[in-house]
Amino acid sequence: MEDAAKRNDSRIVLALDFPYEAPENRKKVLANAQKTFKTVSPYICAVKINHHLVLPLGTFDGVQQLVEQIHEQGLLVIMDAKINDIGNTNQVIAEYYYAAGFDALIANPFVGWDEGLKPLFEVSKRLDRGVILLCYMSHKGASEGYGQTIIDSESGEKTSQYVYFAKKALKWGADGVVVGATVPQKIVEVKQIVGQKVPIYSPGVGAQGGAGQTAIQAGCNYLIVGREITMAGNPAQEARKLYDSIKGI
Ligand code: XMP
Repeated sequence: MEDAAKRNDSRIVLALDFPYEAPENRKKVLANAQKTFKTVSPYICAVKINHHLVLPLGTFDGVQQLVEQIHEQGLLVIMDAKINDIGNTNQVIAEYYYAAGFDALIANPFVGWDEGLKPLFEVSKRLDRGVILLCYMSHKGASEGYGQTIIDSESGEKTSQYVYFAKKALKWGADGVVVGATVPQKIVEVKQIVGQKVPIYSPGVGAQGGAGQTAIQAGCNYLIVGREITMAGNPAQEARKLYDSIKGI
């Protein structure tokens, strides 16, 4: 990610998200995704794909084609799978996504390590891919889970769920954590824990009310941006605007 960000002089990860289309319009969805990526690619360092693009396109039909197109531009591709199951299932899901060419997966630390995320980390390290952990999500309801006050099972002390997850990210050797751009103060707190060891990815810019500049000033390394760009009348212009607004911060 660091190399791609330096090469393209950008810290923007494009979330290639589009509204629902009837399944018979799959070709249109693929063409739209390809066109959006092509026009926006000078202003980004990576692309994030979510279930709502994999569902209409199919993993080994449209999505793999898209992943190859993105790699040809020297950019990375993250699958926002929010992996959240028992270890064996997590491992097989990861193997399929990695077979399709994805460079990293997003996973949910709520499932824990043993028989949870351990097999995912093992297969990812073996294949030289990355695991990015959710730490504090960007939507309002995140406070009900990631924002809860808990008792740390190791120390017995009261702490916040997201602080606990930030510490787990360090312990488990995660390649990134997700903290919403909508909660800059939490980015500051998580940064104090993970330092330079685990990069922070912040979604929620624009459509969800977060500001790119504020998130970067708070300590995030990469901004994840979807609808603000993909739904704009001119996606390249919108991406350029964001790119210019965070340049040099
Ligand atoms: P928008 O349109 O709001 O899209 O810019 C954001 C994209 O990122 C996903 N998203 C998240 N993914 N943790 C994640 O792993 C989060 O906290 C989070 N918040 C938003 C969202 O599904 C969309 O693809």
